[in-house]
Amino acid sequence: MKQYPSIPIASNIPVSAQAYKLSLKAPGLAQSADPGQFVHIRLSPGSDHPLLRRPFSINDIRGDKVAILYQVKGSGTELLSKMTPKDTLDIIGPLGKGFDIDPGKRHHLLVAGGMGIAPMGFLGRRLKGLKLKHQLFYGCRSSSELIKTDIKICSISSDDGSCGKKGLVTSLLPDRLDGCQDPSVYACGPWPMLQAVARICRDKKIPCQVSLESFMACGVGACQGCVVKGSDGGYLSVCDQGPVFDSRRIDWDQDCVI
Ligand SMILES: Cc1cc2nc3c(=O)[nH]c(=O)nc-3n(C[C@H](O)[C@H](O)[C@H](O)COP(=O)(O)OP(=O)(O)OC[C@H]3O[C@@H](n4cnc5c(N)ncnc54)[C@H](O)[C@@H]3O)c2cc1C
Ligand code: FES
Repeated sequence: MKQYPSIPIASNIPVSAQAYKLSLKAPGLAQSADPGQFVHIRLSPGSDHPLLRRPFSINDIRGDKVAILYQVKGSGTELLSKMTPKDTLDIIGPLGKGFDIDPGKRHHLLVAGGMGIAPMGFLGRRLKGLKLKHQLFYGCRSSSELIKTDIKICSISSDDGSCGKKGLVTSLLPDRLDGCQDPSVYACGPWPMLQAVARICRDKKIPCQVSLESFMACGVGACQGCVVKGSDGGYLSVCDQGPVFDSRRIDWDQDCVI
């Protein structure tokens, strides 16, 4: 982990109704990041608002460029959406623990809900580089929120039926898992989706890793602001023990953490 106080923006372009792709010229970050890790970005150059940094998964690394995909949610991401290649950003990263890839597994199934697609691009390309068979299940609310990806898509679903199958992405997973030999699952998305994926994989005794979201302050394990309940009764800090966890380590009966 390193702090880069002045990373130049290469581009910042809309990729769907509410999401943007921000590309940064960041050779140091590009060399050291792994899929599932995130960057902590200060979004308020020259002002105190917002005071805290905001976390974003690393979506893509090409050469010395690092990209994130982000959805405009509040004041920080609104500010970010206005930034141009004339601006620079203060970034800490790469942070957290990413996905563990077991090259012995025969099928690697990626499950993304909404902006949970963000870390999957980088993970998909790492799997491709390792020549491991991988496929994506991608669920969104409607076609206007679908973000293009070059990962091989197995199934798309949408809440309103405007693209792919109407319904939840998790409804498509059990049949596919039954047809796979020796699969491994990687999921990122809203808490209810992760809960469902974790329970399906637990019942089928399939290894599953989940990328969790939580409100973050320090981003480096010092403030305990991001903790979730672990299945052993203790607490886990999402920023440094995660954001990616073996799904069996999480207490899935707790309320949604975000
Ligand atoms: C490890 C990690 C990786 C993330 N990766 C991405 C990513 O790749 N792309 C992306 O778009 N977002 C990602 N997020 C969520 C992102 O950090 C928040 O959307 C962002 O901090 C909102 O900042 P804001 O100032 O615009 O909104 P704020 O004004 O802080 O909040 C506005 C609303 O946004 C929502 N929000 C705030 N923080 C979070 C959060 N941490 N997670 C979910 N919703 C939140 C809440 O509903 C809140 O009421 C990630 C979060 C974590 C913890
Ligand atoms: S955000 Fe401070 S411990 Fe995780």
